[in-house]
Amino acid sequence: MGSNCSNKTTDPLDVIKALRQQSNDISNADQHNVFFVFGASGDLAKKKIYPTLWALFRDRLIPRRTVIIGYARTKLTVEDLKTNISKYIQIKDENENQKFERFLNQNHYINGNYDKTQDFCRLNDFAEQFETTFATANRLFYLALPPNVFAPVTKLIRETCMSTKGWNRVIIEKPFGHDFESSAELSRHLSDLFKENEIYRIDHYLGKEMVQNLMILRFGNRIFNPIWNRDNVASIQITFKEPFGTQGRGGYFDSFGIIRDIMQNHLLQILCLVAMEKPVSSKPEDIRDEKVKVLKCTQTLTLDDIVLGQYIGDKTADGDAKYGYLDDPTVPSGSTTPTFALALCRIRNERWDGVPFFLRCGKATNERKAEIRIQFRDVAADIFSGQCKRNELVIRVQPGEAVYVKFMTKAPGMSFKLEETELDLTYTSRYKSSETLQNSNEAILPDAYERLIMDVFAGSPANFVRSDELAEAWRVFTPVLHQIEKEKVQPLPYVYGSRCPKQADDFCIAHGFKFYGTYKWTDPNEKTTNK
Ligand code: BG6
Repeated sequence: MGSNCSNKTTDPLDVIKALRQQSNDISNADQHNVFFVFGASGDLAKKKIYPTLWALFRDRLIPRRTVIIGYARTKLTVEDLKTNISKYIQIKDENENQKFERFLNQNHYINGNYDKTQDFCRLNDFAEQFETTFATANRLFYLALPPNVFAPVTKLIRETCMSTKGWNRVIIEKPFGHDFESSAELSRHLSDLFKENEIYRIDHYLGKEMVQNLMILRFGNRIFNPIWNRDNVASIQITFKEPFGTQGRGGYFDSFGIIRDIMQNHLLQILCLVAMEKPVSSKPEDIRDEKVKVLKCTQTLTLDDIVLGQYIGDKTADGDAKYGYLDDPTVPSGSTTPTFALALCRIRNERWDGVPFFLRCGKATNERKAEIRIQFRDVAADIFSGQCKRNELVIRVQPGEAVYVKFMTKAPGMSFKLEETELDLTYTSRYKSSETLQNSNEAILPDAYERLIMDVFAGSPANFVRSDELAEAWRVFTPVLHQIEKEKVQPLPYVYGSRCPKQADDFCIAHGFKFYGTYKWTDPNEKTTNK
């Protein structure tokens, strides 16, 4: 951790260079790639998948010989696709504009049904025309689709669209079922069609810089590992907050709720990386083996471990009205679906027995924030009249990537008072070596989707969810989700734009978290504070 100095060797742009190298390595001249986007006319495709593919193309990270074929029911042209995605990308200058045109030239679009063999045969014929002169032809299938067409599409891909002269990789988006049973059913369906190493279940939190950094922080440093256990750690909080509500997406959200939308996947994945044992190596299967092991030690949740909330409107907000969840016309009236949840997870193994892991997530809260907060135990045999506050290691995932350690120091000067301060690695201050970063408050880091799609090209599944991992994740949550739904457990109200229900804070304190409220971390660039 250090001051605001330059550091050439760890310039984030090196990441781009490294990825480019990786991309060159895999874009062998004899190989051709087709990237299929199923659901190409949908929201996910236009907001995320196409902008990601464009960014990879622009930065020369996509293998050179890659053709992108969009497929959906709606009749569209590539020109329509261009209009759709233009809203979600930025073109810097004329040079980039020309590149964007070249990107569009590599794009094609076919419309067809999701359950008609002849339409998929047509799609396959279309793709084959690009591959005939190549010895190796690889295919990636990105399924940006609603769950109800998932089964027929995967079946038809298997029957009609698989490459016979290269690898096939299928990328799927959550929801991976809605409980243990439905997820197992989906996994069975997929395993009848594809090999495990052909299936890439995406959880985009695994592509985030600070989530990826967890492995290095823990296993690449001597200082953290010896204290990473129940003897030293008092509690761990993993938090996700968003300052906006469901806003028209309520219909979709209502059938899932915040636990399925965020907690069971994004937060639990982070928990695995924080709590797992050191893998035998950094190879994907060794990492995934450790994640499964720690999940197996995680106790199944009960209602006593959970606090639920639902946001209500903020009548005092002027200008933009802050409507409550139930005011959203797409939400069924009287819905008890939680938009906030806190869960206390317990890991019964030698390292973590007795240490509470709090997973917290909420929509329409006071800020955008995702972070991991490791609070250490009190100093034993205090000699400073109770002035010591607990140390905390905070890994700030977003916004403003940072790692900081809260600790006690002597107040500078003649006094012998204690003062709270921090050792702070804030990315935008630390990584300013490159020209691009000089004038920017943004660390240039690849987007999570860019990294993950690169991983799929490279055949590296470390940051994707394996089926046994998924089954264990559902095992932890399914009974309590069923109970919440069966008993229609009433969530606690919290006002749009507030922290969360007060009872959630009280719950953490009652289970061992110490909140002092005496110290604020200030992001050196953003000038935002974080208690
Ligand atoms: C998605 C959830 O998985 O993650 C959304 O479905 C949520 O509800 C989103 O808004 C948050 O992602 P990020 O990358 O913006 O933190």
